Amino acid sequence: MKRLIGFIFSAALLFTGSAFAQQVNLLCSPDLAWCEQIGPAFEEATGIDLEFVRLSSSESLARLRAEAANPTFDVWFGGTGDPHLVAFTEGITEFYKPTVWDDLLSGLKNAVGETYIPLYTGAIGFVVNEGILAEVGAPVPQCWEDLVDPVYKGLLAMPNPNTSGTSYTIIATLIQIFGEEQAFEMLAAIHQNVAQYTRSGGAVGLLAGRGDVGVAIQFMHDGVKYVRQGFPVINIAPCEGTGFEIGGISLIKGAPHPDDALAFIEWALTPEAQAIAAQRGESFQVQSNANTPVPPESPDLSSINLIDYDFATFGSPEVRDRIVAKWTNEVFPVPRR
Ligand code: F6P
Repeated sequence: MKRLIGFIFSAALLFTGSAFAQQVNLLCSPDLAWCEQIGPAFEEATGIDLEFVRLSSSESLARLRAEAANPTFDVWFGGTGDPHLVAFTEGITEFYKPTVWDDLLSGLKNAVGETYIPLYTGAIGFVVNEGILAEVGAPVPQCWEDLVDPVYKGLLAMPNPNTSGTSYTIIATLIQIFGEEQAFEMLAAIHQNVAQYTRSGGAVGLLAGRGDVGVAIQFMHDGVKYVRQGFPVINIAPCEGTGFEIGGISLIKGAPHPDDALAFIEWALTPEAQAIAAQRGESFQVQSNANTPVPPESPDLSSINLIDYDFATFGSPEVRDRIVAKWTNEVFPVPRR
């Protein structure tokens, strides 16, 4: 009898132990180096365990859509904002107003409203290996329209919008500057020059850095990372203007660990947590908390011609799904001559 009571007692302890285990399951979309730094820092600050999976922004949206009825993640951290908007519209995430809300940059909050929480911002540009272009006599591109020139055949890299949020931001930027018809004509011409489409947005800069291509189209803050790592690349802001992201953090609706999820969101928006991005995470976005120092290496957004990006339109599920499908069906399968 004593043994039976002992068994029941230990079984109950085990059960309550796991039911009340403090844990955050994080879907993490920025650079892997930053994702890897988050868990240990959060655990040290709060004592709460953190497990993460790193997926690019569009892949993350696909994953969250697939498991919407039975979510395994608590928080989606980072990634471009448009899929966060889609997830919010589709009821996959829910808005949570953090206690530091008043400290977040008002321009970012105003642009996306109470849908997801702004985490950082950064602009699209060209990450250029001048040496590779010089070898073939190709000029350093200054404008979006330069990229359609056959002189860049085999010299461009960009990510694939089916996986990457960076790629969707590039396509949405072209549509907003040139109109949809001309933008898709340009994307078809750019396709003829692309040597490789990558899964994640950050990866293209490495191709330029290693000299596999001459021009990587990606966020300029990712270019900064490759400069710091010693690769011979420079950042160019396109002359016609360029698009930008408001990277997000979202609470997953039906999160398995809701209290720990909120503890994580609160922590992640503090200047101390946000500073980890540049200090240890090789990430040089401008962080959303006005009290987080802007790293000196970060591209100066005030000197870049940013377009008036229409987040509501390009973050709507219909528009996003239609544009990605159009690129996938009309641009991607065309043989490169
Ligand atoms: O590498 C960092 C970063 O560029 C973020 O600024 C951005 O939100 C994210 O990557 C997008 O990654 P992907 O294009 O792979 O979805």
